[in-house]
Amino acid sequence: MKKILIAIFIIAGVITAQEKKGKISFKEDIMPVFQKKCMNCHNTEDESPSGFYLDSYAELMKGDSRNGPVIKVKKAEESILIMKLRGTASFGKQMPRGKKPLDDETIAMISRWIDQGAKNN
Ligand code: HEC
Repeated sequence: MKKILIAIFIIAGVITAQEKKGKISFKEDIMPVFQKKCMNCHNTEDESPSGFYLDSYAELMKGDSRNGPVIKVKKAEESILIMKLRGTASFGKQMPRGKKPLDDETIAMISRWIDQGAKNN
Protein backbone atom coordinates (compact mmCIF):
# COMPACT_ATOMS: atom_id res chain seq x y z
CA MET A 1 0.00 0.00 0.00
CA LYS A 2 2.78 2.39 0.94
CA LYS A 3 4.58 1.75 -2.34
CA ILE A 4 1.43 2.45 -4.34
CA LEU A 5 0.93 5.73 -2.52
CA ILE A 6 4.51 6.78 -3.19
CA ALA A 7 4.08 5.89 -6.86
CA ILE A 8 0.94 8.02 -7.04
CA PHE A 9 2.75 10.97 -5.49
CA ILE A 10 5.60 10.66 -7.96
CA ILE A 11 3.29 10.46 -10.96
CA ALA A 12 1.24 13.43 -9.73
CA GLY A 13 4.42 15.43 -9.29
CA VAL A 14 5.60 14.69 -12.81
CA ILE A 15 2.22 15.65 -14.27
CA THR A 16 2.11 19.02 -12.45
CA ALA A 17 5.68 19.79 -13.51
CA GLN A 18 4.75 19.10 -17.13
CA GLU A 19 1.66 21.27 -16.96
CA LYS A 20 3.70 24.12 -15.57
CA LYS A 21 6.23 23.79 -18.34
CA GLY A 22 3.51 23.74 -21.01
CA LYS A 23 1.86 26.87 -19.68
CA ILE A 24 2.85 29.98 -21.63
CA SER A 25 3.34 33.23 -19.77
CA PHE A 26 2.40 36.50 -21.42
CA LYS A 27 5.01 38.50 -19.50
CA GLU A 28 7.87 36.02 -19.72
CA ASP A 29 7.33 34.36 -23.09
CA ILE A 30 5.17 36.54 -25.33
CA MET A 31 6.02 40.14 -24.46
CA PRO A 32 9.80 39.73 -25.04
CA VAL A 33 9.05 38.58 -28.63
CA PHE A 34 6.88 41.63 -29.27
CA GLN A 35 9.47 43.92 -27.73
CA LYS A 36 12.22 42.54 -29.91
CA LYS A 37 10.37 42.08 -33.18
CA CYS A 38 7.33 44.33 -33.28
CA MET A 39 7.46 47.32 -30.97
CA ASN A 40 9.58 49.53 -33.17
CA CYS A 41 6.47 49.85 -35.35
CA HIS A 42 3.56 49.01 -33.04
CA ASN A 43 4.09 51.42 -30.15
CA THR A 44 1.86 54.21 -28.89
CA GLU A 45 4.64 56.79 -28.77
CA ASP A 46 5.33 56.61 -32.49
CA GLU A 47 1.64 56.26 -33.38
CA SER A 48 1.86 53.10 -35.42
CA PRO A 49 0.43 53.65 -38.92
CA SER A 50 -1.59 50.45 -38.53
CA GLY A 51 -3.36 51.83 -35.43
CA PHE A 52 -2.34 48.65 -33.65
CA TYR A 53 -0.20 48.83 -30.53
CA LEU A 54 1.74 46.21 -28.68
CA ASP A 55 2.96 48.21 -25.67
CA SER A 56 0.70 46.43 -23.24
CA TYR A 57 -1.65 43.51 -22.77
CA ALA A 58 -4.63 45.88 -22.91
CA GLU A 59 -3.55 47.34 -26.26
CA LEU A 60 -2.92 43.89 -27.70
CA MET A 61 -6.37 42.65 -26.69
CA LYS A 62 -8.05 45.79 -28.03
CA GLY A 63 -6.65 45.16 -31.49
CA ASP A 64 -6.61 47.81 -34.18
CA SER A 65 -9.03 50.59 -35.00
CA ARG A 66 -10.25 49.14 -38.31
CA ASN A 67 -10.36 45.39 -37.86
CA GLY A 68 -11.03 45.18 -34.12
CA PRO A 69 -9.53 42.52 -31.86
CA VAL A 70 -6.71 40.49 -33.41
CA ILE A 71 -7.04 37.76 -30.79
CA LYS A 72 -9.96 35.39 -30.44
CA VAL A 73 -9.53 33.87 -27.01
CA LYS A 74 -9.02 30.08 -27.21
CA LYS A 75 -9.26 30.22 -31.01
CA ALA A 76 -5.72 30.77 -32.27
CA GLU A 77 -6.57 29.51 -35.75
CA GLU A 78 -9.19 32.25 -36.13
CA SER A 79 -7.03 34.99 -34.65
CA ILE A 80 -5.80 37.71 -37.01
CA LEU A 81 -2.57 37.91 -34.99
CA ILE A 82 -1.61 34.33 -35.92
CA MET A 83 -2.68 34.79 -39.55
CA LYS A 84 -0.51 37.90 -39.77
CA LEU A 85 2.48 36.00 -38.38
CA ARG A 86 1.95 33.14 -40.85
CA GLY A 87 1.22 35.46 -43.76
CA THR A 88 -2.24 34.01 -44.33
CA ALA A 89 -4.34 37.05 -43.39
CA SER A 90 -6.64 38.36 -46.11
CA PHE A 91 -5.17 41.87 -45.90
CA GLY A 92 -1.80 43.56 -45.64
CA LYS A 93 1.62 41.97 -45.30
CA GLN A 94 3.11 39.17 -43.21
CA MET A 95 4.46 40.33 -39.83
CA PRO A 96 7.01 41.43 -38.82
CA ARG A 97 6.65 43.62 -41.90
CA GLY A 98 9.75 43.73 -44.09
CA LYS A 99 11.65 41.31 -41.85
CA LYS A 100 12.26 37.58 -41.60
CA PRO A 101 9.08 35.82 -40.39
CA LEU A 102 9.13 34.46 -36.83
CA ASP A 103 10.18 30.81 -36.63
CA ASP A 104 7.48 28.13 -36.46
CA GLU A 105 8.22 27.38 -32.83
CA THR A 106 7.60 30.97 -31.74
CA ILE A 107 4.36 31.19 -33.73
CA ALA A 108 3.26 27.85 -32.21
CA MET A 109 4.04 29.19 -28.73
CA ILE A 110 1.94 32.32 -29.29
CA SER A 111 -0.94 30.24 -30.62
CA ARG A 112 -0.75 27.92 -27.61
CA TRP A 113 -0.96 30.96 -25.34
CA ILE A 114 -4.14 32.07 -27.16
CA ASP A 115 -5.61 28.55 -26.90
CA GLN A 116 -4.79 28.54 -23.18
CA GLY A 117 -7.03 31.57 -22.77
CA ALA A 118 -4.74 34.49 -23.75
CA LYS A 119 -4.34 35.48 -20.11
CA ASN A 120 -2.35 38.40 -18.73
CA ASN A 121 -0.16 35.97 -16.79
C1 HEC B 1 8.33 47.66 -39.96
C2 HEC B 1 7.13 47.93 -39.19
C3 HEC B 1 6.36 46.77 -38.61
C4 HEC B 1 6.85 45.72 -37.84
C5 HEC B 1 8.29 45.44 -37.41
C6 HEC B 1 5.70 44.92 -37.45
N1 HEC B 1 4.55 45.46 -37.99
FE1 HEC B 1 2.65 44.72 -37.78
N2 HEC B 1 1.93 46.15 -39.06
C7 HEC B 1 2.69 47.16 -39.65
C8 HEC B 1 1.84 47.92 -40.57
C9 HEC B 1 2.27 49.11 -41.41
C10 HEC B 1 0.55 47.30 -40.52
C11 HEC B 1 -0.70 47.65 -41.33
C12 HEC B 1 -0.67 47.09 -42.74
C13 HEC B 1 -0.77 45.57 -42.79
O1 HEC B 1 -1.73 45.01 -42.24
O2 HEC B 1 0.10 44.94 -43.41
C14 HEC B 1 0.65 46.21 -39.55
C15 HEC B 1 -0.42 45.40 -39.19
C16 HEC B 1 -0.36 44.43 -38.20
C17 HEC B 1 -1.50 43.66 -37.73
C18 HEC B 1 -2.90 43.79 -38.20
C19 HEC B 1 -3.65 44.82 -37.40
C20 HEC B 1 -5.02 44.96 -37.96
O3 HEC B 1 -5.91 44.25 -37.49
O4 HEC B 1 -5.19 45.76 -38.89
C21 HEC B 1 -1.04 42.80 -36.77
C22 HEC B 1 -1.86 41.80 -35.98
C23 HEC B 1 0.37 43.02 -36.64
N3 HEC B 1 0.77 44.01 -37.51
C24 HEC B 1 1.19 42.33 -35.79
C25 HEC B 1 2.58 42.46 -35.75
C26 HEC B 1 3.44 41.62 -34.93
C27 HEC B 1 2.95 40.55 -33.97
C28 HEC B 1 4.72 42.01 -35.20
C29 HEC B 1 6.00 41.42 -34.63
C30 HEC B 1 6.18 39.99 -34.81
C31 HEC B 1 4.67 43.11 -36.16
N4 HEC B 1 3.34 43.34 -36.48
C32 HEC B 1 5.76 43.79 -36.66
C33 HEC B 1 4.03 47.42 -39.41
C34 HEC B 1 4.90 46.58 -38.71
